[in-house]
Amino acid sequence: MNWSSVSQTLSVVGCRDKMLLSLQLLLLLTLTIRTDGYFYTMIKECIASSADLTDAEYIDTYYFNKVKYVQFNSTKGRFVGFTEFGLETAKKWNNRPEVQQERDELDRVCKPNLEIQFSHIVDKTVKPKIRLRSEEEASGGHPAILLCSAYDFYPPAIDVYWLRDDEKVTMDTISTEEMADGDWYYQVHSHLEYTPTSGEKISCVVEHASSKKPIIYNWEPHVSQSERNKIAIGASGLVLGIILSAAGFIYYKKKSSERILVPS
Ligand SMILES: *[C@@H]1O[C@H](CO)[C@@H](O)[C@H](O)[C@H]1NC(C)=O
Repeated sequence: MNWSSVSQTLSVVGCRDKMLLSLQLLLLLTLTIRTDGYFYTMIKECIASSADLTDAEYIDTYYFNKVKYVQFNSTKGRFVGFTEFGLETAKKWNNRPEVQQERDELDRVCKPNLEIQFSHIVDKTVKPKIRLRSEEEASGGHPAILLCSAYDFYPPAIDVYWLRDDEKVTMDTISTEEMADGDWYYQVHSHLEYTPTSGEKISCVVEHASSKKPIIYNWEPHVSQSERNKIAIGASGLVLGIILSAAGFIYYKKKSSERILVPS
């Protein structure tokens, strides 16, 4: 028998619950034994979504040639088979005294390790900085494009979506993957194509482990940059005009009073 690889991997997998965002931690031990073209793999996992570890599970899965055939699940407290051979194995293993060891793994290995991981990772969440802006304005039958960006957050698991009058928009939206900035922080961008109609409410919602509640940003259509520039130029012109005419008026007044005081 050739033990080709024994590796221990620790991975943190982000995962979102339906309502409350949480971080799912997964401790993983993989063992693969290769014998002349046959693969035997064991994967031991500790999984939990909540920091109090109430939903912590220990899952021990066995594969032969990449086919999962038997698995111990701590919630079930026994082995379950997936193939004919797996069913037989499960029956056999469930009757061995060693099954008690599997039952103890949750408290012996998983919980202490998950506790450490939760306190080291979940405590270090960093809230995203959100920017909501118009990328393209609607013109000539073209829809407008809004861009909602989340910057500098950790961990990478995040959900960015849109609400239109408080209903989740499923179409006309594209999001990028979470992109690593290379400094443990991540960014993500979501586009929404829409045709503006008056009175509707558009919001960008961000769900992330750093915030218990979804972060909601409402879109407030305001004057665009180019329009703002035009207004600024117009206002400066007006001010300049007032100053110049006031100066001219003062000059004229002075001149005319001099003329009265010093008659020629
Ligand atoms: C373990 O078993 C429980 C109870 O049947 C189930 O809810 C859970 O999804 C199982 N876990 C895995 C990883 O299959």
